[in-house]
Amino acid sequence: MAEFRLPKNSVVKKGTTHKSATSGRIKKFKVYRYDPDSGQNPRYDDFEIDLDECGPMVLDALIKMKSEQDPSLTFRRSCREGICGSCSMNIDGRNGLACTTAIEDIKGDIRITPLPHMDVIKDLVPDFTHFYAQYASIKPWLQTVTPEPAGKERLQSPEDRNKLDGLYECILCACCSTSCPSYWWNSDKFLGPAILLQAYRWLADSRDEMTGERLDELEDPFRLYRCHTIMNCANVCPKGLNPAKAIAEIKKMEVERII
Ligand code: SF4
Ligand code: SF4
Ligand code: FES
Repeated sequence: MAEFRLPKNSVVKKGTTHKSATSGRIKKFKVYRYDPDSGQNPRYDDFEIDLDECGPMVLDALIKMKSEQDPSLTFRRSCREGICGSCSMNIDGRNGLACTTAIEDIKGDIRITPLPHMDVIKDLVPDFTHFYAQYASIKPWLQTVTPEPAGKERLQSPEDRNKLDGLYECILCACCSTSCPSYWWNSDKFLGPAILLQAYRWLADSRDEMTGERLDELEDPFRLYRCHTIMNCANVCPKGLNPAKAIAEIKKMEVERII
C-alpha cells in the first residue's frame, strides 16, 4: 500500500506555554506561530489569559499576549471596530475578525491560525499580494467616457444609490475568499468571492460607463465561473454581505446581454 508523508517542515509542532501572571478566569489560546525565514517548523504556542484582566474580544487577548507574554507574536490590526479588515484570521475553525469576535462566544480552548490557503509572512499575517493584485485587476474605480457636466457632480438617484447597499460595505478582509473551496484550488485564476463582489459593486453603479468592458473581462471559465454556489462566503462574512448573490448577479448580466 502506498504511504504518503507530509514534508518534514509542514508538521505543526507543540511550542511554548505562556502562563498567566494572575489567577482569575483562565482561558487557554492555542496560537499558530511560524517564521518562514527561521527554517523552523510551525508550532502552536499556548497562552493562558486571565479573562478578568482582559477585554472581551479575541483581539484584546492577542494584544495582551503580545504586550505581556511574547512581544514577537505577530498579527495585523488597526481600527479595533470591524472597519479596516486587517485583523481577519481563523478563530477556532471559522474565518472572522478578531476585533469583533467575543471570547465568551467560544467554548473551551481557542485555536487561532492565519486565514487558510494563503502564504504566511509571519505567525497570523498572511500574504495579501495576490489578493490585492486580483483586486486591482477589476479596476475598482468609477470609469466614465462622457465628460463631467461643468461645475456639477455626477449625480445618482436615491434608488440607484440603494443598489450599492450590501456591496460598498465590503472591507476586503478576505474571510470569504479564504473560506471558498473553489478559491483554495484555483486562486491563481478564479477571482474569488471578495473580488467578484467588488467587481459587481462597479457593475451596479449607475454612474459607471464601462459595463460592457467589465463584463468582457469577467467572461471567463475561471475568473467568474469557478463559483459553484457552495455559499461558504456568505456564511462567514463578518459584515453580513452575500458575495454569492453578487456573483449570481454578474452571471445574470452576462446572460442577459447575449439574449
Ligand atoms: S458561493 Fe461561490 S464564491 Fe461563495 S464560497 Fe461558494 S464557490 Fe466560493
Ligand atoms: S465580502 Fe465580507 S468577507 Fe468578503 S472581503 Fe468583503 S467584508 Fe470580507
Ligand atoms: S482591527 Fe480593523 S477590522 Fe479588526
